[in-house]
Amino acid sequence: EKGGFSSFMEKEINDQPDAVAQTLLGRSDLDGKLTLDELRIDPELLKQVNKIIVLACGTAAYAGTVAKYAIENWCRIPTEVELAHEFRYRDPILDENTLVVSISQSGETMDTLMAVRYAREQGAKTISICNTNGSTIPRESDAVLYTHAGPEIAVASTKAFLAQITAAYLLGLYLAQLRGNIFSGQIKDVLADLNKIPAKIQTILDSAGPLRELARSMANEKSVLFLGRHVGYPVALEGALKLKEIAYIHAEGFAAGELKHGPIALIDDGQPVFVVVPSPRGRDSLHAKVVSNIQEVRARGARTLVIAEEGDEAVKAYAEYVFYVPETPTLLMPLLTTVPLQIFAAELAAAKGYDVDQPRNLAKSVTVE
Ligand code: M6R
Repeated sequence: EKGGFSSFMEKEINDQPDAVAQTLLGRSDLDGKLTLDELRIDPELLKQVNKIIVLACGTAAYAGTVAKYAIENWCRIPTEVELAHEFRYRDPILDENTLVVSISQSGETMDTLMAVRYAREQGAKTISICNTNGSTIPRESDAVLYTHAGPEIAVASTKAFLAQITAAYLLGLYLAQLRGNIFSGQIKDVLADLNKIPAKIQTILDSAGPLRELARSMANEKSVLFLGRHVGYPVALEGALKLKEIAYIHAEGFAAGELKHGPIALIDDGQPVFVVVPSPRGRDSLHAKVVSNIQEVRARGARTLVIAEEGDEAVKAYAEYVFYVPETPTLLMPLLTTVPLQIFAAELAAAKGYDVDQPRNLAKSVTVE
């Protein structure tokens, strides 16, 4: 069942071109119009939404942060992301014009379910982004947008994460279309860019040999840091979570701008730091800021391991190692930049001889609060 791969996680990493393609399939027409009628939620109600709250846990919450950036950019609706287990305990402000979007691979995560129930009781509309047909969270939500990643067996989430991000983009574009926030031509362009993603992920999978070698050489590391800015920030958090979960290595993800507010004190000679670099073709200052963060940690002795976009020559001077991903618009980059970090964690954990699919102390779905 592992399809010739050494673990389910490796298989699922390699399934990702398909997971993204299946999640996009049949949800837009040839004119570039989103057709999410499956949501069965009155479009008039969605037009009235004035606030979105994304609720999820773990990896799904990182997909939620990507969703926030995309939805705010395309829809101009204020969007918050919150860990589902924190939400209920702080008397959150929501009403019938609030849209709560929950994200859950399993659809059974108790923390997320309880948060959705609470939101419904308060009168909010609830949409679930979920990978498991007929599971509890979609059943208890007003509407569901399924991710079509196929069953995910490994405890560490990989293909479900990419599918969640993909579904969140579709939801964001759909809301923008309904509310007339962006031109239809722009929606068409984003959809065209999304449709190119599966082949780009395949390119990454096919060029990971040196990255795997690097991972094996780092099996004795005690701590690895991950930096990112904008949508690279949740990617950094996800890279760190993967390494903690399956390789049992202390790993932290930081917003790159936070460095000088504390974490930079951790950097000393030989400290490995992954840096997720935004496209140099995007907002100028964003790229330049992250490149200067690479310089800052490098100057203090860090080993700089950089994930950058093809053609980004600027990072070379300060990087011990660069993994290039194909060109793509900034907002969509997490679908690419996450993949090398997943591969790195899986390869390193396997080199340490760990059971990559069944890490200690963890269960695939967390059905207790
Ligand atoms: O099934 P869910 O998406 O609701 O699960 C949420 C988290 O428990 C899950 O993403 C967890 O963080 C994974 N083990 C991450 O790899």
